[in-house]
Parts: sequence; structure tokens; C-alpha cells
Amino acid sequence: MRLSDAEQAMLDGQEGQAKARAMDLLLRYGEALGAERMVEVAHVAGTWSATTPFVQAGLKRPDDFDSIFSRFNLDSDAVVEVPRAVVPTCQLIHGIDTRNYAAQGFSDDQADLQRASERFFGSRGVQWNSTCTPYQVGQTPLRGDHLAWMESSAVVYANAVLGARTNVEGRESTGAASITGRIPYFGLHIPANRFATHLVRVEVPVESMMDWGLLGYALGEMVAEDIPVLEGITCKPEPEWLKHFGAAAASSGGVEMYHIPGLTPEADSVEEALGGQAPRVVHRYGAAERRRAWEALNGANTRDDVNFVMLGCPHNSAKQMWRIAELLEGKRLHDGVALWVHTPRQIRHLCDESGITEIIEAAGALVMSDSCPAINRMLPEGTEVIATDSCKQAHYLPAISGKPTWFGGLEHCIEAALTGRFRGRPE
Ligand code: F3S
Repeated sequence: MRLSDAEQAMLDGQEGQAKARAMDLLLRYGEALGAERMVEVAHVAGTWSATTPFVQAGLKRPDDFDSIFSRFNLDSDAVVEVPRAVVPTCQLIHGIDTRNYAAQGFSDDQADLQRASERFFGSRGVQWNSTCTPYQVGQTPLRGDHLAWMESSAVVYANAVLGARTNVEGRESTGAASITGRIPYFGLHIPANRFATHLVRVEVPVESMMDWGLLGYALGEMVAEDIPVLEGITCKPEPEWLKHFGAAAASSGGVEMYHIPGLTPEADSVEEALGGQAPRVVHRYGAAERRRAWEALNGANTRDDVNFVMLGCPHNSAKQMWRIAELLEGKRLHDGVALWVHTPRQIRHLCDESGITEIIEAAGALVMSDSCPAINRMLPEGTEVIATDSCKQAHYLPAISGKPTWFGGLEHCIEAALTGRFRGRPE
């Protein structure tokens, strides 16, 4: 790789050992990928948490944050002092809800450790958004910005909906990027790699969050890690539907980028999305494909006696929180059913201040932040059958927990929470 003078100076240790280790890591990473140079990043979203499960498993002294950063963010056996981030940097989701940790099965000590790690890394410039949806809480890049983001649902939203540029990064590369301001220039940073290769003809109406989830789930199965352009969408989606759509496509496949001409910012026509080339593959999404996506998520389920409902994957927006409050107002959860409603901590604060948390929790539900069951692998005690309005969560939870998991619309899930029965099967 060619390094600039400033990058070479960092590598040579002129700005301290941490940056030297970070630049060395990025150089090795870039060379393995065949990158020719670095690119300056406008924003970093990664993880510095001390309570992420794999960090917990690998630590001897959990309160030594320099050692956590050296080992888990820089892949360095030598312990270096953590410098300040040089670009705007935020924490994504992590392992523990600092308010409702007991319901997740964590101890007071673990919550204290998490708070201490937030104070430590916060003092180094890491903003504790603690969500997989940083773009919902002020961390919203501009079109063309180069980013170093982890978290597949955030990456596909940043690339496709916002027109920013990022690959799916890891804890190490985002840690190194935060203190150097650089990431290897490869993959989706390069304009020529952002064209579609697959055309998907959508032949059924896609008019709700559930519809967009199923389309995304089918799309991931169709194109895997390639870039699709979709035609035939007639309904203008809400941002939350695109959030679910991308998360679903990044779960069943590895979709990091897509185009919907007239909606997403990088192509106004199918031809432009394809970069003037013919599509390598043409797919159709009709009633049969929609049904297959539903069956892939729900087909193995036999029991409908749900006793845990999870809402908010990716984390709920303020608008979604209000809708959930409207559906729960004045009602009570069915005996023995738990309902966890996940949202970024900033939106939880907003909900606390505006009475939305009170409405949701008066029904017997919990408003959760910072985490989710697929990440921390914590479910309410006694969970037997799960329902969720998220394809992504429904994709991962059966494998993680061994529990049958229903995917359905929000109303189906709230009904399950209130009655203990999932009745969201399509007609
Ligand atoms: Fe976010 Fe967890 Fe879903 S990280 S996207 S709520 S799996």
C-alpha cells in the first residue's frame, strides 16, 4: 500500500505507540484486501464495550481499559495507552442494558463495569449512542462520506439510503480507524464497486414494514453479497421500513448496498444503477417468493403459545415507540408473557420524558436500550416461544437460543403479547 506522509509518520510511531499499532493493523488489513491506499473517514461506529460477551470471556482484569483497547481493538499483546479519537466516533450496540440489566440476567457488578467503561472511553471521545441505528440519533453521515462502520444493518442503510460509503468493519478496524482517521480504500469505498449486478423485478405490492421485511429476506437469499437494483416498487416506504428491509437482506444474505431508482440517491434509473451494463442475473419477486420468505422464517414453528415478544430490531425510532404505546395503552400483557421493546438510549430518554415509557411499562412491558437478545444472548427466564416483528431477529434467535421464533407484523406481535397466542399466519 502507498501511505501518505502523515500515515507513514503514524506508522513510524511519531504520534505514539497506539497510533503506530493502529496503522500497522490497518496496513496489514489493507494489504490482505489488495487495497492500494487508505482513505480518510468522516465517522466511525464500532464497539469499545467491556461487557461484550467475547471480551468478558477473554479478560483477566475486566477494569483495565487500556488492556481491553489494546487487545480487542488493536489486536496488540503489548498494552498501549488509549488516545483520543480523532474523528467523530460512536459506540454501537453492546452487551448490557444499563437500566434493565437484571431482567437480562446481569449482575450489579457487570452493570457497574459497563458504566465505568462508558466513562473511560467517553473521556477518549467515544460517544455512547449504544445502538445499531446511530443514524436515528444524530450520527447521520452525508452522501459520499467515507465511514468505518460495524453492524450490517447500519452499513446497508448508510450505503444504500444515505449514499455514504462503508464496508462492514470489525472491532479492530473501527478501533484503529477512530485514532488514525483512516481505513483501507477498497470494496464499497470505490465508486466502480457500487453499481448493481442483479436486477430484481418486484411484482407484488410492498406496502408495510412486514412487506419490506419479507422482500428484504427474499432479496438476501437471491443475491447473497451482490448488489441488486429493484424495479416495480410503487409505494414510497417510511425510513423505518427501509431500516427493516436492509437488516433482513443483510441477515439472509450479506447485502451491503442496493439501489431503488427514484428513492435511493445514487441512481435515477435501472440503467444508471447497473452502470450501463446488462444485469448478470434477473430475479422476480412475486406472491410465491413472498410466501417462501414467510415460510423460511416461520415454516418450522408448531407451537403458537408465545411467552416472549421482542420489538425493536433494528432499534425502534421515536415514531415506532409511539405506535407501540398506542397499541398497548390501557391494556395488560397476558399472564406469563414478557415484552421487551428496544430503542436507542436517547430515544428511551425522550420516551421517559414524554410519558411513552410509562404507557408501555404500565402494560407490563420493558423499554430496553443498548442491547438486544441476538447480541447478548439473554432472554427472559422461562422463554419457550418467541414472536418478533423483525426478520433479522427471527433469523438469528432460533439458532442462538434454540427457541421457535415467529416473525409477524407489529400488530400480530402486540396481539401475541396480549393474548399469549401468535395468530399472524397469512390468509
Ligand atoms: Fe440491532 Fe440487535 Fe437487531 S444489534 S439490528 S437489534 S440483531
